[in-house]
Amino acid sequence: MNASIDDLVTQARVAFEQATTPADLENAKAVYLGKTGRITELMKGLGALSVDEKKTQGALINKVKQGIEEALQARRMQMQAAELERQLQAEALDVTLPGRAQHKGGLHPVSMTMERIERVFSSMGFEVAKGPEIETDWFNFTALNTPQNHPARSMHDTFYVEGGHLLRTHTSPMQIRHAVQHVKRHQSLIESGQSMPEIRVIAPGRTYRVDSDATHSPMFHQCEGLWIGEQVSFKDLKVVFTNFCKMFFESDDLILRFRPSFFPFTEPSAEIDIQFASGPLAGRWLEVAGSGQVHPNVVRNMGLDPERYIGFAFGMGPDRLTMLRYGVNDLRLFFDGDLRFLHQFQ
Ligand code: PHE
Repeated sequence: MNASIDDLVTQARVAFEQATTPADLENAKAVYLGKTGRITELMKGLGALSVDEKKTQGALINKVKQGIEEALQARRMQMQAAELERQLQAEALDVTLPGRAQHKGGLHPVSMTMERIERVFSSMGFEVAKGPEIETDWFNFTALNTPQNHPARSMHDTFYVEGGHLLRTHTSPMQIRHAVQHVKRHQSLIESGQSMPEIRVIAPGRTYRVDSDATHSPMFHQCEGLWIGEQVSFKDLKVVFTNFCKMFFESDDLILRFRPSFFPFTEPSAEIDIQFASGPLAGRWLEVAGSGQVHPNVVRNMGLDPERYIGFAFGMGPDRLTMLRYGVNDLRLFFDGDLRFLHQFQ
């Protein structure tokens, strides 16, 4: 009997060693030290013994219990050490590895052009305004002297969305939106017959038309320009736009041509062509913008008296300007998202 009691410690040690998880170990512990475990069982047996036997047997059981507890504790420590070792291995840090490069993003070439345009026009005293890409028929067409069924609308086929709204076909609606705000801000001056501060603004942004080939994309960019005052003439348009081109292309080696054209919202109207004196594009006229003197009906829709206020507007294509500046010959490259192409501008 005593021999088998001594054996208990060995048995328990083996059972603890075989346990591979903390849960296994707890189960093994229960078999020996639990409420219904072997030690408890032995303790219960003590009641039937004489006083002397109780003493010796009790002491023996206590020794065995202690032995089992020590074996359990040893196994627990072992498991913890192994777990710690495993974690250290898993989280090992090799400080001799080379560092990981931080890949910095860069601006899209068209974004760089937009920022450039904004910088140049800001330097000439123009504000920058932004407006919605989903427009109403009024702002996109009617207020711009292009009523329903006007033939000029057919060149602006676009994407219509619910509620009679459409994706704007040009940034020209911003002429009206911005001017109306400006007029509202200076209403008291205007009503008392005093001079209103001039409107001088550009409005860059995305525009949409049903169009797709090497030089047209269904989504493209435009930048509108508007200057309205009491003495603003076509001559000012020429000066402003010529200065802009020289600053934008960082060259005095270019000439501009104002070619008569038609837009419902300007009269007279002109396409603006540019020609470089040197470089790969030398000698060719390249169209960069539409422009003209703002039509009296449009001035009226801005809330101003066309007998008093006059000015010019232009709308240029930043995508086109980007192509010219960097010598890109296919517009679609800008919108494919091919990093091999885009990296070249960083
Ligand atoms: N909105 C015209 C277009 O998209 C360009 C333009 C703007 C022409 C302003 C004249 C004045 O073609």
